[in-house]
Amino acid sequence: MEPLIVYYSSPSLNTHRFVGRLGLRAVRIPISFKEAMPPVEEPFVLICPTYADDDGSKAVPKQVIRFLNNPDHRALIQGVIGSGNRNFGEMFAVGGKIVAKKCNVPLLYRFELSGTPEDIMTVQRGVQKLWNSLTPSVKMRKTGS
Ligand SMILES: Cc1cc2nc3c(=O)[nH]c(=O)nc-3n(C[C@H](O)[C@H](O)[C@H](O)COP(=O)(O)O)c2cc1C
Repeated sequence: MEPLIVYYSSPSLNTHRFVGRLGLRAVRIPISFKEAMPPVEEPFVLICPTYADDDGSKAVPKQVIRFLNNPDHRALIQGVIGSGNRNFGEMFAVGGKIVAKKCNVPLLYRFELSGTPEDIMTVQRGVQKLWNSLTPSVKMRKTGS
């Protein structure tokens, strides 16, 4: 089975552009609360930009939280890649760190904005390596099984 990316991207589309260049299968978490969550029923890596308030709170976009509130999704996440902007200093890509901790999965990588060609190559290789290392039982894992 080929790797699957699940990602959120706001109207500024940085993460969307990054994911488009990865050339991997990908599902986008909708921006609108009114739109239905897409069904994700197989293992995936989440790519999550950071949107913190001035006090550092609310770093994980609400729609990402909503997606991860589904226990089926939490059972399938294999790792998280955080994105952000280094201008935010210590808060750089903290959304990814928070998701990794909450879901007890590795923070695989962090990148800025829509990433560099090097970021793209690193993530392509890293995700493929992770998929190769998944046990057959994880690869076959589907929602509800
Ligand atoms: C209101 C706001 C808050 C942000 N907060 C952070 C932050 O705390 N840390 C960080 O690394 N990036 C932060 N960013 C930068 C975004 O994470 C970055 O621009 C990202 O690439 C956006 O991805 P998207 O265009 O796919 O939504 C913030 C951006 C905005 C507009």
